[in-house]
Formats: sequence, C-alpha cells, structure tokens
Amino acid sequence: MTETASTGAALPLLTRLGHCEIRQLLGQGGGGISYLAYDENLEREVVIKEHFPPSLCYRLPGTAAVQPVSAADYERSLASFCREARILAGLNHPGIVKVYDIFQASGTAYMVMEYVEGDRLTEWLPAHAGEVQLVTGVLNSLLAALEYLHSHEVLHRDIKPSNIIMRNGTQPVLIDFGAAMLGTPPTTITLVGTPGYAAPEQFHQHGKVGPWSDLYALAHSVAKLVPPLVLKRYPSRFVKALKRAGEDDIDCRYGSAAAWAASLGKERGVFGWILVIMTLLLSGLVVFSVCFLVSEDEVYVTGSHAGSSPQQTTGAMLLTDSPESTVLQENRSEYIKSLEEQQLQFTRNQYRATLEKSAELYGYSGKGDRDAWIEKTVEEWIRRSEGAIRDAMENYAERGL
Ligand SMILES: Nc1ncnc2c1ncn2[C@@H]1O[C@H](COP(=O)(O)OP(=O)(O)O)[C@@H](O)[C@H]1O
Ligand SMILES: [Mg+2]
Repeated sequence: MTETASTGAALPLLTRLGHCEIRQLLGQGGGGISYLAYDENLEREVVIKEHFPPSLCYRLPGTAAVQPVSAADYERSLASFCREARILAGLNHPGIVKVYDIFQASGTAYMVMEYVEGDRLTEWLPAHAGEVQLVTGVLNSLLAALEYLHSHEVLHRDIKPSNIIMRNGTQPVLIDFGAAMLGTPPTTITLVGTPGYAAPEQFHQHGKVGPWSDLYALAHSVAKLVPPLVLKRYPSRFVKALKRAGEDDIDCRYGSAAAWAASLGKERGVFGWILVIMTLLLSGLVVFSVCFLVSEDEVYVTGSHAGSSPQQTTGAMLLTDSPESTVLQENRSEYIKSLEEQQLQFTRNQYRATLEKSAELYGYSGKGDRDAWIEKTVEEWIRRSEGAIRDAMENYAERGL
C-alpha cells in the first residue's frame, strides 16, 4: 500500500462523476468511499459509493485514477463490488436502500444510490430508547426488511447500527451491502462482518451462516444501544426475543425474521392478564407508600424508607427539613452539584453491575477486553443520562429548598 492509499484518498469536493457532482465525503471504509453528490439529471442528491479498498489499490496523485496493487485481488474485489450493486438493484423494499445506477470509470466502479436522509441507528436509538412503542415498531420494520432480503436469498452479513439509517425518524433503511451474499452459503465461507455485532459463525471457516446470523447482529445492535435500565421498561416478550435472537448457540436462535416478529406480536394469555392486574395492584400500593412518605415531609428519590443506596440517602438527607438543608440553601448550586455527583456515582455503579451480569450476552468473555468494554459503555450511558440526572436533581432540590 502506498502513502496515497492510506488516507486522503477521497476525491475532492466538486469533482464531476458522470452527471453527478461530489458535495460531501460521507465515509471511507474497508471496501470503498461514500460521497454525497448532486445528480443533475435526476435533480436530487444521491450517494455515490466508489470502489476503493485501500489495501488493494491507490490513487495516482492529482488525478481520479485508481491503480491496483495486486491486479488479481483487485479484479476479484471489483467484481464483488459490482455484484453488491446488482444484488441491490434487484431488490425493492422501503427498508432497503435503492440503487439507481452503476458505472465504471478511472479504473474503478461507482454505485449511485438514493440518499436516505436521517440519523443512523447509532444516534437515533439512544435518543429514543425509552419510547417502547416506537422502538418496537422500528424493530418490526427491520425484521420485515430482513425477511424480504432473506426470502430473496440475500444475507446482509454486516448488520450494525451505522449501516441502518432512520428515514424521517420512522422508517429504518438498510445500507452498505459490501459484505452481502446471494444464494445458499457454501460449506466454507469468506470471513466477514464487524466484531461485536457479527455472529460467531461468521468468523469460522465452516460456520453455519444463514438468516439467523443477520438476526444475531440485529439483536446485538439493539441490545448495545438500549441501556439495561431502560430495557426493563419493555414487555418481557420483547426482551426475551432479543436474548433469544442474540444467543451464541445457533440452535437456540430464531430461524427467521418472521419467527422473531411473530413472537413480538403474541397476544397476552390468561397468565399475562393476571400479571397485568397484579402489576396494577402493586403500582397502587407503591403510589400509596410514596404519598405516605411525602406526608412525613421527606421525599425519597426511589425505593423504600429504609433504603441504603447513595441515591436514597441523598434524597433523604437533602430533602428533609433538617438544619443541614438551611445551610445548603445558602449555596444552592454547590448543593445541586453534590447531589448530582452522588447520583451519577450511584447510576455508574448500577450500570456497571448490570453490564457485568450481561457481559456474556454482549459477547465479551475475555476478562481484559470485557472490563474495558464495560467501562467504555458505562461512560457512554452516563454521558447520555447526564442531562436527565441534572434536571432531576434540580427538580428535587427545588422541592426540598
Ligand atoms: N444511501 C445512503 N444515504 C445516506 N447516507 C449514506 C448512504 N450510504 C452511506 N451513507 C453514509 O455513509 C457512511 C458510510 O457508508 P457505508 O455504505 O456504510 O460504507 P462503509 O461502512 O464501508 O464506509 C454510512 O455510515 C452513512 O452515514
Ligand atoms: Mg458501513
């Protein structure tokens, strides 16, 4: 690989490609470079993916020309890129990106696709994780797209949040078919996929890859972006289905997207209704207890009167009519900050404990790797919860002062 191949290989803005003009660089991956462009014929923005595997080629300085490093490998990769385009061109589903055109120029190939406007699942899901109905609807749409794909004998093999775009914030669209495969998998397969999402069988020469492999990656994509505490608010059948689809053992997983979708839509049985009634009775009991506690001039953030978590201690300590609270009134912002810090620490510990329990589900068995992942995820979730925690603490302080 030459110097020009490693970075900065993207074509400059305003470069003309056929009747399109490059407007923005969207991404540069192992298989190619994605640009946002304007198509003067179609009079709309499009996405152009350029075949440019940086390990197999480089660009001649100051030109658009792409030069292979090893001709045979490059030709093989170019052929598989064109195959990706042909697979996509033959599909027609609202949940799958549309291909308008493919052409060859400058020693490589270009795929022109619809520009799907919206956030990627990577950003969308953490922001909407608490909206159970909406997320369930999006999961159903993704399963419908995968069922369509699989019924056409196509496996995506690189399902992950950055390869799903939320059109208008409601319709998920699958993109990036660079690893896709058409037809029945052979007994030995090329090892593809993104670690952390792709199913274990995709990393074994003789792995039994099939629709269940895409479903595994979808389950892990969702599980990674919905914090466990939020996941607890989902119906148990949703959580159970997610776990089942994400099992390492293929035999424990769903065989098809339709089977997963069916288990999401199951009617509540008699036991389900008994559970609902019991939950309602319990909620009534909790409301009654909270009213009872408030009437004692003490407000607890969560849990029972005798709770001992820092969160509860914080609530009790600061919101009771005590001499301390009079002192604290003089320094409100410091008081809120300390509240916030204790709350953050408590939440951090809670997240850590939950992640430790579910580390295996997320596919982390090696200790060092696993701990680093837990710490990184904890901090990611904390970052997302900070705003809400700050608001809650301000609110509690307001009521207590
Ligand atoms: N059709 C599209 N519409 C909107 N954005 C796209 C489209 N295709 C790709 N992108 C953006 O470009 C990024 C990289 O494209 P992708 O096809 O996933 O290639 P790679 O992951 O190999 O770089 C995506 O994460 C997405 O943000
Ligand atoms: Mg991608």
